[in-house]
Amino acid sequence: MSTDNPTIANEVNPFFQLLSDAANQGALQRLILSKYIGAEEALKRLVVRPLLLREVESLSFVYSYQTRDITRNHPRTEGLALLATLLGSDFKSAHLFTQQEEVQLNITKKGKAQLHRRASAASAEVSHQHDREKRRFVPLERPFLVELGVTDRQHQLIPAMSRKWKQINKFIEVFQRAFDASPLQGADSIEVYDFGSGKGYLTFAIHDFLRHSRQLAAEVTGVELRQPLINLCTTAAKRLGLEGLTFRAGDVRHYTPARLDVMIALHACDTATDHAIHMGIRSNAAIIMCAPCCHKEVRPQMHNPAVLQPMLQYGVHQGQEAEMVTDALRALLLEANGYDTQVFEFVSLEHTSKNKMILAVRRNQPGDAQPVLAQIAALKQFYGIREQCLESLLLGRPDSPDTSCPGNCGCQGL
Ligand SMILES: C[S@@+](CC[C@H](N)C(=O)[O-])C[C@H]1O[C@@H](n2cnc3c(N)ncnc32)[C@H](O)[C@@H]1O
Repeated sequence: MSTDNPTIANEVNPFFQLLSDAANQGALQRLILSKYIGAEEALKRLVVRPLLLREVESLSFVYSYQTRDITRNHPRTEGLALLATLLGSDFKSAHLFTQQEEVQLNITKKGKAQLHRRASAASAEVSHQHDREKRRFVPLERPFLVELGVTDRQHQLIPAMSRKWKQINKFIEVFQRAFDASPLQGADSIEVYDFGSGKGYLTFAIHDFLRHSRQLAAEVTGVELRQPLINLCTTAAKRLGLEGLTFRAGDVRHYTPARLDVMIALHACDTATDHAIHMGIRSNAAIIMCAPCCHKEVRPQMHNPAVLQPMLQYGVHQGQEAEMVTDALRALLLEANGYDTQVFEFVSLEHTSKNKMILAVRRNQPGDAQPVLAQIAALKQFYGIREQCLESLLLGRPDSPDTSCPGNCGCQGL
Protein backbone atom coordinates (compact mmCIF):
# COMPACT_ATOMS: atom_id res chain seq x y z
CA MET A 1 0.00 0.00 0.00
CA SER A 2 1.26 3.42 -0.81
CA THR A 3 0.66 4.93 2.60
CA ASP A 4 3.32 5.00 5.28
CA ASN A 5 0.89 6.24 7.90
CA PRO A 6 0.16 3.15 10.05
CA THR A 7 -3.22 4.52 11.20
CA ILE A 8 -4.38 4.91 7.63
CA ALA A 9 -2.87 1.58 6.59
CA ASN A 10 -5.04 -0.12 9.24
CA GLU A 11 -8.10 0.75 7.19
CA VAL A 12 -6.67 0.97 3.68
CA ASN A 13 -5.19 -2.53 3.77
CA PRO A 14 -8.46 -4.32 4.59
CA PHE A 15 -10.22 -2.16 1.99
CA PHE A 16 -7.70 -3.20 -0.64
CA GLN A 17 -8.08 -6.83 0.40
CA LEU A 18 -11.86 -6.61 -0.08
CA LEU A 19 -11.33 -4.97 -3.45
CA SER A 20 -8.90 -7.57 -4.74
CA ASP A 21 -11.00 -10.46 -3.37
CA ALA A 22 -14.07 -9.07 -5.14
CA ALA A 23 -12.15 -8.58 -8.38
CA ASN A 24 -10.60 -12.07 -8.25
CA GLN A 25 -13.92 -13.75 -7.40
CA GLY A 26 -15.91 -11.95 -10.09
CA ALA A 27 -17.99 -10.04 -7.49
CA LEU A 28 -16.62 -6.57 -8.24
CA GLN A 29 -19.22 -4.21 -9.69
CA ARG A 30 -17.35 -0.92 -9.55
CA LEU A 31 -14.94 1.18 -7.56
CA ILE A 32 -15.17 4.95 -7.41
CA LEU A 33 -12.17 6.95 -6.26
CA SER A 34 -12.76 10.61 -5.52
CA LYS A 35 -11.38 13.61 -3.57
CA TYR A 36 -8.26 13.62 -5.67
CA ILE A 37 -5.25 15.44 -4.22
CA GLY A 38 -2.54 14.26 -6.62
CA ALA A 39 -0.52 16.12 -9.23
CA GLU A 40 -2.81 15.83 -12.26
CA GLU A 41 -4.69 18.96 -13.00
CA ALA A 42 -8.50 18.88 -13.16
CA LEU A 43 -8.78 15.16 -12.39
CA LYS A 44 -12.03 14.69 -10.51
CA ARG A 45 -12.47 11.00 -10.07
CA LEU A 46 -11.63 7.56 -11.28
CA VAL A 47 -14.18 4.81 -11.87
CA VAL A 48 -12.97 1.23 -12.19
CA ARG A 49 -15.05 -1.61 -13.57
CA PRO A 50 -14.31 -5.24 -14.43
CA LEU A 51 -13.99 -6.02 -18.12
CA LEU A 52 -13.22 -9.05 -20.29
CA LEU A 53 -10.81 -7.89 -22.97
CA ARG A 54 -9.86 -10.43 -25.64
CA GLU A 55 -10.46 -13.25 -23.16
CA VAL A 56 -8.31 -11.50 -20.51
CA GLU A 57 -9.84 -10.51 -17.17
CA SER A 58 -9.18 -6.80 -17.04
CA LEU A 59 -10.07 -3.63 -15.24
CA SER A 60 -11.30 -0.57 -17.07
CA PHE A 61 -10.12 2.74 -15.55
CA VAL A 62 -12.15 5.81 -16.53
CA TYR A 63 -10.45 9.04 -15.43
CA SER A 64 -12.91 11.93 -15.30
CA TYR A 65 -11.48 15.38 -15.78
CA GLN A 66 -13.25 18.68 -15.71
CA THR A 67 -14.15 18.49 -19.42
CA ARG A 68 -13.36 14.97 -20.67
CA ASP A 69 -13.00 11.31 -19.76
CA ILE A 70 -9.98 9.12 -20.51
CA THR A 71 -10.22 5.33 -20.44
CA ARG A 72 -7.32 2.97 -19.84
CA ASN A 73 -7.64 -0.77 -19.55
CA HIS A 74 -5.30 -2.99 -17.59
CA PRO A 75 -5.07 -6.72 -17.03
CA ARG A 76 -6.60 -7.40 -13.63
CA THR A 77 -3.38 -7.98 -11.64
CA GLU A 78 -1.75 -4.94 -13.14
CA GLY A 79 -4.85 -2.84 -12.47
CA LEU A 80 -4.98 -3.96 -8.86
CA ALA A 81 -1.31 -3.08 -8.41
CA LEU A 82 -2.01 0.38 -9.78
CA LEU A 83 -4.96 0.81 -7.44
CA ALA A 84 -2.78 -0.15 -4.49
CA THR A 85 -0.63 2.90 -5.23
CA LEU A 86 -3.60 5.25 -5.48
CA LEU A 87 -5.68 4.22 -2.48
CA GLY A 88 -5.26 6.37 0.59
CA SER A 89 -2.71 8.65 -1.10
CA ASP A 90 -3.88 10.37 -4.32
CA PHE A 91 -7.56 9.77 -3.62
CA LYS A 92 -9.00 10.43 -0.17
CA SER A 93 -12.24 8.65 -0.78
CA ALA A 94 -12.97 5.22 -2.22
CA HIS A 95 -16.35 3.59 -2.68
CA LEU A 96 -16.40 -0.09 -3.49
CA PHE A 97 -19.53 -1.82 -4.84
CA THR A 98 -19.59 -5.60 -4.90
CA GLN A 99 -22.44 -8.07 -5.36
CA GLN A 100 -22.63 -8.50 -1.60
CA GLU A 101 -21.77 -5.15 -0.06
CA GLU A 102 -20.79 -1.53 -0.32
CA VAL A 103 -17.60 -0.44 1.40
CA GLN A 104 -16.61 3.18 1.84
CA LEU A 105 -13.15 4.35 2.76
CA ASN A 106 -12.60 8.00 3.71
CA ILE A 107 -9.43 9.77 4.81
CA THR A 108 -10.38 12.77 6.93
CA LYS A 109 -8.62 16.14 6.88
CA LYS A 110 -6.97 15.18 10.15
CA GLY A 111 -5.46 12.16 8.42
CA LYS A 112 -7.69 9.53 10.00
CA ALA A 113 -9.09 6.67 7.92
CA GLN A 114 -12.69 5.53 8.29
CA LEU A 115 -14.16 2.36 6.88
CA HIS A 116 -17.90 1.69 6.57
CA ARG A 117 -19.49 -1.50 5.29
CA ARG A 118 -23.10 -2.33 4.52
CA ALA A 119 -25.05 -4.89 2.49
CA SER A 120 -25.35 -3.75 -1.08
CA ALA A 121 -28.65 -2.61 -2.51
CA ALA A 122 -28.27 -5.39 -5.08
CA SER A 123 -27.85 -8.08 -2.45
CA ALA A 124 -30.77 -6.60 -0.47
CA GLU A 125 -32.82 -6.92 -3.66
CA VAL A 126 -31.67 -10.52 -4.10
CA SER A 127 -32.71 -11.37 -0.54
CA HIS A 128 -35.94 -9.47 -1.10
CA GLN A 129 -36.58 -11.56 -4.16
CA HIS A 130 -35.74 -14.61 -2.12
CA ASP A 131 -38.30 -13.55 0.52
CA ARG A 132 -40.85 -12.91 -2.19
CA GLU A 133 -40.05 -16.32 -3.62
CA LYS A 134 -40.77 -17.85 -0.22
CA ARG A 135 -44.04 -15.97 0.04
CA ARG A 136 -45.29 -17.37 -3.24
CA PHE A 137 -48.13 -19.77 -2.77
CA VAL A 138 -48.25 -20.88 -6.40
CA PRO A 139 -44.80 -21.75 -7.76
CA LEU A 140 -44.09 -20.21 -11.16
CA GLU A 141 -43.21 -23.68 -12.44
CA ARG A 142 -46.79 -24.96 -12.22
CA PRO A 143 -47.86 -26.04 -15.72
CA PHE A 144 -51.31 -24.40 -15.62
CA LEU A 145 -49.66 -20.97 -15.48
CA VAL A 146 -48.07 -21.58 -18.89
CA GLU A 147 -51.34 -22.83 -20.30
CA LEU A 148 -53.20 -19.73 -19.10
CA GLY A 149 -50.51 -17.38 -20.40
CA VAL A 150 -49.32 -16.18 -16.99
CA THR A 151 -45.81 -17.53 -17.55
CA ASP A 152 -43.87 -18.36 -20.68
CA ARG A 153 -42.51 -21.80 -21.62
CA GLN A 154 -39.43 -21.10 -19.47
CA HIS A 155 -41.74 -20.42 -16.51
CA GLN A 156 -40.88 -16.76 -16.44
CA LEU A 157 -43.66 -14.42 -15.45
CA ILE A 158 -45.06 -12.52 -18.43
CA PRO A 159 -44.79 -8.86 -17.34
CA ALA A 160 -48.31 -7.96 -18.47
CA MET A 161 -49.65 -10.71 -16.20
CA SER A 162 -47.94 -9.61 -13.00
CA ARG A 163 -51.15 -8.08 -11.63
CA LYS A 164 -53.05 -11.27 -12.22
CA TRP A 165 -50.18 -13.23 -10.75
CA LYS A 166 -50.30 -11.25 -7.50
CA GLN A 167 -54.04 -11.76 -7.33
CA ILE A 168 -53.73 -15.53 -7.82
CA ASN A 169 -51.10 -15.77 -5.10
CA LYS A 170 -53.03 -13.69 -2.63
CA PHE A 171 -56.15 -15.67 -3.36
CA ILE A 172 -54.41 -18.97 -2.61
CA GLU A 173 -52.79 -17.51 0.50
CA VAL A 174 -56.18 -16.41 1.84
CA PHE A 175 -57.81 -19.68 0.83
CA GLN A 176 -55.12 -21.75 2.51
CA ARG A 177 -55.62 -19.91 5.81
CA ALA A 178 -59.38 -20.32 5.62
CA PHE A 179 -59.07 -23.97 4.64
CA ASP A 180 -56.82 -24.76 7.60
CA ALA A 181 -59.28 -23.08 9.98
CA SER A 182 -62.37 -24.71 8.48
CA PRO A 183 -64.24 -27.95 9.17
CA LEU A 184 -62.72 -29.21 5.88
CA GLN A 185 -59.41 -29.90 7.58
CA GLY A 186 -58.89 -33.64 7.33
CA ALA A 187 -61.69 -34.19 4.80
CA ASP A 188 -61.09 -36.97 2.25
CA SER A 189 -62.83 -35.28 -0.64
CA ILE A 190 -63.88 -31.72 -1.35
CA GLU A 191 -66.34 -30.15 -3.80
CA VAL A 192 -65.41 -26.65 -4.89
CA TYR A 193 -67.46 -24.34 -7.12
CA ASP A 194 -66.12 -21.15 -8.63
CA PHE A 195 -69.04 -19.06 -9.87
CA GLY A 196 -68.39 -16.58 -12.64
CA SER A 197 -65.11 -18.36 -13.28
CA GLY A 198 -64.27 -16.21 -16.34
CA LYS A 199 -60.95 -17.27 -17.83
CA GLY A 200 -60.43 -19.69 -14.96
CA TYR A 201 -57.27 -18.33 -13.35
CA LEU A 202 -58.53 -18.87 -9.83
CA THR A 203 -60.32 -22.11 -10.69
CA PHE A 204 -57.10 -23.66 -12.00
CA ALA A 205 -55.16 -22.22 -9.04
CA ILE A 206 -57.44 -23.70 -6.40
CA HIS A 207 -57.52 -27.05 -8.20
CA ASP A 208 -53.73 -27.02 -8.30
CA PHE A 209 -53.52 -26.10 -4.61
CA LEU A 210 -55.89 -28.84 -3.45
CA ARG A 211 -54.78 -31.60 -5.81
CA HIS A 212 -51.07 -30.86 -6.11
CA SER A 213 -50.04 -29.05 -2.90
CA ARG A 214 -52.48 -30.78 -0.57
CA GLN A 215 -52.85 -34.05 -2.48
CA LEU A 216 -56.61 -34.09 -1.86
CA ALA A 217 -59.32 -35.71 -3.97
CA ALA A 218 -60.85 -32.35 -4.85
CA GLU A 219 -63.49 -31.85 -7.53
CA VAL A 220 -63.37 -28.27 -8.75
CA THR A 221 -66.02 -26.82 -11.06
CA GLY A 222 -66.02 -23.43 -12.73
CA VAL A 223 -69.48 -22.14 -13.59
CA GLU A 224 -69.74 -19.38 -16.12
CA LEU A 225 -72.41 -17.71 -18.24
CA ARG A 226 -70.24 -17.29 -21.30
CA GLN A 227 -69.82 -20.42 -23.39
CA PRO A 228 -66.61 -19.30 -25.17
CA LEU A 229 -64.88 -19.04 -21.79
CA ILE A 230 -66.10 -22.51 -20.83
CA ASN A 231 -64.64 -23.85 -24.08
CA LEU A 232 -61.34 -22.05 -23.49
CA CYS A 233 -60.93 -23.41 -19.96
CA THR A 234 -62.12 -26.92 -20.84
CA THR A 235 -59.54 -27.11 -23.64
CA ALA A 236 -56.77 -25.92 -21.31
CA ALA A 237 -57.74 -28.44 -18.60
CA LYS A 238 -57.82 -31.26 -21.20
CA ARG A 239 -54.44 -30.29 -22.64
CA LEU A 240 -52.97 -30.48 -19.15
CA GLY A 241 -54.71 -33.78 -18.51
CA LEU A 242 -56.16 -32.49 -15.25
CA GLU A 243 -58.54 -34.71 -13.36
CA GLY A 244 -61.24 -33.25 -11.18
CA LEU A 245 -61.41 -29.90 -12.98
CA THR A 246 -64.58 -29.16 -14.93
CA PHE A 247 -66.11 -26.06 -16.50
CA ARG A 248 -69.84 -25.80 -17.01
CA ALA A 249 -72.05 -23.24 -18.63
CA GLY A 250 -74.52 -22.05 -16.05
CA ASP A 251 -76.09 -19.15 -14.25
CA VAL A 252 -75.27 -18.73 -10.59
CA ARG A 253 -78.85 -17.63 -9.98
CA HIS A 254 -80.25 -21.03 -10.87
CA TYR A 255 -77.38 -23.44 -10.40
CA THR A 256 -77.91 -26.16 -7.81
CA PRO A 257 -74.88 -28.30 -7.05
CA ALA A 258 -75.50 -31.64 -5.42
CA ARG A 259 -72.79 -30.92 -2.88
CA LEU A 260 -70.83 -27.78 -2.18
CA ASP A 261 -68.01 -27.48 0.36
CA VAL A 262 -66.29 -24.36 -0.95
CA MET A 263 -68.13 -21.57 -2.74
CA ILE A 264 -66.03 -19.03 -4.60
CA ALA A 265 -67.36 -16.04 -6.50
CA LEU A 266 -64.76 -13.46 -7.36
CA HIS A 267 -65.95 -10.38 -9.13
CA ALA A 268 -69.37 -11.83 -9.87
CA CYS A 269 -71.29 -8.72 -10.84
CA ASP A 270 -73.71 -7.05 -8.46
CA THR A 271 -76.46 -9.40 -7.18
CA ALA A 272 -74.74 -12.44 -8.76
CA THR A 273 -72.63 -12.27 -5.58
CA ASP A 274 -75.80 -12.50 -3.45
CA HIS A 275 -76.99 -15.55 -5.36
CA ALA A 276 -73.61 -17.17 -4.95
CA ILE A 277 -73.51 -16.50 -1.20
CA HIS A 278 -77.07 -17.74 -0.86
CA MET A 279 -76.20 -20.96 -2.63
CA GLY A 280 -73.20 -21.36 -0.32
CA ILE A 281 -75.33 -20.91 2.80
CA ARG A 282 -78.11 -23.12 1.44
CA SER A 283 -75.61 -25.87 0.65
CA ASN A 284 -74.00 -25.58 4.08
CA ALA A 285 -70.63 -24.79 2.47
CA ALA A 286 -67.70 -24.77 4.88
CA ILE A 287 -66.02 -21.82 3.13
CA ILE A 288 -67.62 -18.95 1.26
CA MET A 289 -65.24 -16.61 -0.46
CA CYS A 290 -66.34 -13.71 -2.58
CA ALA A 291 -65.05 -10.42 -3.93
CA PRO A 292 -68.12 -8.39 -4.83
CA CYS A 293 -68.29 -5.78 -7.53
CA CYS A 294 -70.82 -3.41 -9.09
CA HIS A 295 -73.03 -2.56 -6.10
CA LYS A 296 -76.10 -1.34 -7.95
CA GLU A 297 -78.99 -2.73 -5.96
CA VAL A 298 -78.93 -0.81 -2.71
CA ARG A 299 -77.73 2.62 -3.81
CA PRO A 300 -81.00 3.95 -5.31
CA GLN A 301 -82.88 2.87 -2.17
CA MET A 302 -80.68 4.68 0.32
CA HIS A 303 -81.96 7.73 2.18
CA ASN A 304 -79.29 9.52 4.10
CA PRO A 305 -79.84 11.80 7.07
CA ALA A 306 -79.42 15.51 6.31
CA VAL A 307 -76.17 15.72 8.25
CA LEU A 308 -74.51 13.37 5.74
CA GLN A 309 -75.65 15.27 2.65
CA PRO A 310 -72.60 17.58 2.38
CA MET A 311 -70.39 14.51 2.37
CA LEU A 312 -72.56 12.61 -0.07
CA GLN A 313 -72.99 15.42 -2.56
CA TYR A 314 -69.87 13.90 -4.11
CA GLY A 315 -70.96 10.95 -6.23
CA VAL A 316 -67.89 8.90 -5.42
CA HIS A 317 -68.83 8.94 -1.74
CA GLN A 318 -72.34 7.73 -2.51
CA GLY A 319 -70.83 4.78 -4.38
CA GLN A 320 -68.47 4.01 -1.52
CA GLU A 321 -71.25 4.25 1.02
CA ALA A 322 -73.54 1.94 -0.99
CA GLU A 323 -70.71 -0.56 -1.33
CA MET A 324 -69.94 -0.48 2.38
CA VAL A 325 -73.57 -0.88 3.38
CA THR A 326 -74.20 -3.70 0.87
CA ASP A 327 -71.14 -5.67 1.91
CA ALA A 328 -71.81 -5.06 5.61
CA LEU A 329 -75.32 -6.48 5.19
CA ARG A 330 -73.91 -9.51 3.35
CA ALA A 331 -71.29 -10.10 6.04
CA LEU A 332 -73.85 -9.75 8.85
CA LEU A 333 -76.24 -12.12 7.08
CA LEU A 334 -73.43 -14.66 6.89
CA GLU A 335 -72.72 -14.16 10.61
CA ALA A 336 -76.42 -14.67 11.37
CA ASN A 337 -76.32 -17.89 9.37
CA GLY A 338 -73.51 -19.49 11.35
CA TYR A 339 -70.36 -18.19 9.66
CA ASP A 340 -67.33 -16.42 11.10
CA THR A 341 -66.98 -13.62 8.61
CA GLN A 342 -64.21 -11.22 7.70
CA VAL A 343 -64.23 -8.32 5.27
CA PHE A 344 -60.82 -7.14 4.12
CA GLU A 345 -58.72 -5.95 1.23
CA PHE A 346 -57.09 -8.93 -0.40
CA VAL A 347 -54.85 -7.28 -2.96
CA SER A 348 -53.66 -3.71 -2.80
CA LEU A 349 -55.36 -1.10 -4.95
CA GLU A 350 -52.24 -0.96 -7.04
CA HIS A 351 -53.18 -4.31 -8.55
CA THR A 352 -56.93 -4.11 -9.02
CA SER A 353 -59.64 -1.68 -8.09
CA LYS A 354 -61.88 -4.52 -6.88
CA ASN A 355 -59.99 -5.50 -3.82
CA LYS A 356 -62.54 -6.25 -1.13
CA MET A 357 -63.08 -9.79 0.00
CA ILE A 358 -65.82 -11.30 2.12
CA LEU A 359 -64.53 -14.51 3.64
CA ALA A 360 -66.82 -16.71 5.68
CA VAL A 361 -65.90 -19.94 7.44
CA ARG A 362 -68.68 -22.08 8.89
CA ARG A 363 -68.71 -22.27 12.68
CA ASN A 364 -69.05 -25.62 14.40
CA GLN A 365 -71.97 -24.18 16.38
CA PRO A 366 -74.25 -21.71 14.55
CA GLY A 367 -74.63 -19.32 17.52
CA ASP A 368 -77.50 -16.96 18.34
CA ALA A 369 -78.66 -15.18 15.18
CA GLN A 370 -81.10 -12.79 16.86
CA PRO A 371 -78.71 -9.99 17.93
CA VAL A 372 -77.18 -9.88 14.43
CA LEU A 373 -80.58 -9.91 12.72
CA ALA A 374 -81.55 -6.97 14.92
CA GLN A 375 -78.41 -5.10 13.77
CA ILE A 376 -79.31 -5.79 10.16
CA ALA A 377 -82.84 -4.50 10.67
CA ALA A 378 -81.52 -1.35 12.36
CA LEU A 379 -79.07 -0.66 9.54
CA LYS A 380 -81.74 -1.10 6.90
CA GLN A 381 -84.08 1.15 8.77
CA PHE A 382 -81.43 3.85 9.20
CA TYR A 383 -80.74 3.94 5.46
CA GLY A 384 -84.32 3.29 4.38
CA ILE A 385 -83.37 0.11 2.53
CA ARG A 386 -86.41 -1.94 1.58
CA GLU A 387 -84.71 -4.83 -0.09
CA GLN A 388 -81.34 -6.52 -0.24
CA CYS A 389 -81.00 -9.48 -2.59
CA LEU A 390 -79.24 -11.92 -0.23
CA GLU A 391 -81.69 -11.24 2.56
CA SER A 392 -84.64 -11.72 0.19
CA LEU A 393 -83.22 -15.01 -1.05
CA LEU A 394 -82.64 -16.25 2.49
CA LEU A 395 -86.21 -15.32 3.41
CA GLY A 396 -87.48 -17.18 0.33
CA ARG A 397 -88.88 -14.02 -1.25
CA PRO A 398 -88.94 -13.74 -5.06
CA ASP A 399 -85.71 -12.58 -6.62
CA SER A 400 -84.96 -8.92 -6.60
CA PRO A 401 -84.64 -7.31 -10.07
CA ASP A 402 -81.81 -8.76 -12.11
CA THR A 403 -78.93 -6.33 -12.08
CA SER A 404 -76.21 -8.86 -12.74
CA CYS A 405 -74.27 -8.60 -15.95
CA PRO A 406 -72.18 -10.99 -17.97
CA GLY A 407 -68.91 -9.20 -17.30
CA ASN A 408 -69.52 -6.32 -19.68
CA CYS A 409 -69.90 -3.70 -16.96
CA GLY A 410 -66.29 -2.64 -17.15
CA CYS A 411 -65.26 -4.84 -14.22
CA GLN A 412 -62.93 -6.97 -16.28
CA GLY A 413 -61.17 -8.72 -13.45
CA LEU A 414 -59.53 -10.91 -16.06
C1 LIG B 1 -65.33 -9.99 -13.79
S1 LIG B 1 -65.37 -11.61 -14.27
C2 LIG B 1 -64.46 -12.45 -13.02
C3 LIG B 1 -63.78 -13.71 -13.45
C4 LIG B 1 -63.01 -14.44 -12.35
N1 LIG B 1 -63.87 -14.85 -11.26
C5 LIG B 1 -61.85 -13.62 -11.83
O1 LIG B 1 -61.98 -13.02 -10.75
O2 LIG B 1 -60.80 -13.59 -12.47
C6 LIG B 1 -67.03 -12.01 -13.88
C7 LIG B 1 -67.49 -13.26 -14.58
O3 LIG B 1 -68.75 -13.63 -14.05
C8 LIG B 1 -69.55 -14.11 -15.10
N2 LIG B 1 -70.94 -13.97 -14.66
C9 LIG B 1 -71.65 -12.82 -14.47
N3 LIG B 1 -72.88 -13.11 -14.03
C10 LIG B 1 -72.96 -14.45 -13.91
C11 LIG B 1 -74.00 -15.35 -13.53
N4 LIG B 1 -75.19 -14.91 -13.18
N5 LIG B 1 -73.72 -16.67 -13.51
C12 LIG B 1 -72.51 -17.14 -13.89
N6 LIG B 1 -71.50 -16.33 -14.30
C13 LIG B 1 -71.72 -15.01 -14.30
C14 LIG B 1 -69.17 -13.22 -16.27
O4 LIG B 1 -69.46 -13.83 -17.52
C15 LIG B 1 -67.67 -13.03 -16.06
O5 LIG B 1 -66.91 -13.98 -16.77
